[in-house]
Amino acid sequence: MRILVTGGMGFIGSHIVEAYLAQGHHVAVVDNLWPHGGGRRENISPDVRRYIVDITDSAVAEVFERERPHVVCHHAAQHSARISTEMPALDAHVNILGLLNILENCRIYRTHKLIFASSAATYGAQSSMPLNEETLQSPTSPYGITKMAAEYYVHYYQATHGLNYTMFRYGNVYGPRQDPNGEAGVIAIFADRVLTGKPVRIDWDGEQARDYVYVDDIAAANVLALHKGLNRTYCLGTGIPSSVNDVYRQLVRLIGRDTGVIRAPQRSGDIRLSYFDTTRAREELGWTSGVSLEHGLRRVIKFLGDRLNEHSASTHDGARNGAHDGARNGAHDGARNGAHDGAHDGAHDGAHERMPAPQAQAYQALTSHVAARLPSTERITLEISADDSTP
Ligand SMILES: NC(=O)c1ccc[n+]([C@@H]2O[C@H](COP(=O)([O-])OP(=O)(O)OC[C@H]3O[C@@H](n4cnc5c(N)ncnc54)[C@H](O)[C@@H]3O)[C@@H](O)[C@H]2O)c1
Repeated sequence: MRILVTGGMGFIGSHIVEAYLAQGHHVAVVDNLWPHGGGRRENISPDVRRYIVDITDSAVAEVFERERPHVVCHHAAQHSARISTEMPALDAHVNILGLLNILENCRIYRTHKLIFASSAATYGAQSSMPLNEETLQSPTSPYGITKMAAEYYVHYYQATHGLNYTMFRYGNVYGPRQDPNGEAGVIAIFADRVLTGKPVRIDWDGEQARDYVYVDDIAAANVLALHKGLNRTYCLGTGIPSSVNDVYRQLVRLIGRDTGVIRAPQRSGDIRLSYFDTTRAREELGWTSGVSLEHGLRRVIKFLGDRLNEHSASTHDGARNGAHDGARNGAHDGARNGAHDGAHDGAHDGAHERMPAPQAQAYQALTSHVAARLPSTERITLEISADDSTP
């Protein structure tokens, strides 16, 4: 099967890419390596075809033209509730207009199915738990609002254009390669701080609890959705709430070191309790979360520990050579920026020539509007290139 994974160089997307490849599928990736997201070139194998392009760019059509995907697994997004409160227009630009661009291309290129990553953030604060697919959504952040609106657009494309879908509302996904700034960054942040001997900051009284679900389980659901879950929506979690205090205590026990806690007030909008009833996913997809929190934390600790060891080994070598850090950072930034600039210089203008004029103007106007409010280093770029040697 030909599958296009948007956001495929990000945390969750890169695990899904691995899972699809392991099943023998033909996978291509769209990602713009947004600096505030978890996208990294090194997250996926260099053999995977990747297109460095913004999902809001009309040039995405070129990717569809070349790849003709049977399935689009849409994970590219502005993924942070915090950023969405600071820049709601940016959040809507990526999470709504970006989605519409993908949906339009699915329609034009007759994609069989869209798999869409929605979120527990669409529920907001609820008085009754657990949450299931029938619970009324009531988002309290711009991010939750755009994810909920996105679900309605997906329904609309199914009803009007016959585009099939499976939608997932994820709990707090965690695992190796997680961006500490994302929706469920607490495990990535805490594990990193405890391993490096730093105290963690716990807001409120730490008893606020979430449904932390391991990323391999999420990838497995995305594999099942290739053949199951036709036009259905599923909540994916463990069904077990774990408090921030629980997470910290388990990390301390597993790492064998208590680095201390700095207490902080409740963050505005923070929700006390959120966890899922995943009966529908079990009955219809045959999916359950197989990885316990303890097991998942062990894997995160191992991943971060290995990375720290690699880093300290290379720092040691670098110190001997005298110029390690500059070289490493320079190479990293250069690779990231170089790819970015190269893509920008590549096919940007040509792509816009192919877009219907009113649509192109609308995208352009919105992007300039958003960009004008951001420092130049944080601009959303309108660009496309098939990265490196991809056909
Ligand atoms: N992490 C969670 O707990 C969680 C929970 C619920 C839903 N989700 C959803 O799952 C998806 C993946 O989240 P993640 O945690 O892996 O985040 P991530 O930031 O690691 O991955 C998102 C990817 O999308 C890319 N991206 C962002 N804006 C883009 C744009 N305009 N054009 C092209 N690519 C763009 C980023 O570069 C990144 O690689 C998102 O849709 C997110 O909203 C995540």
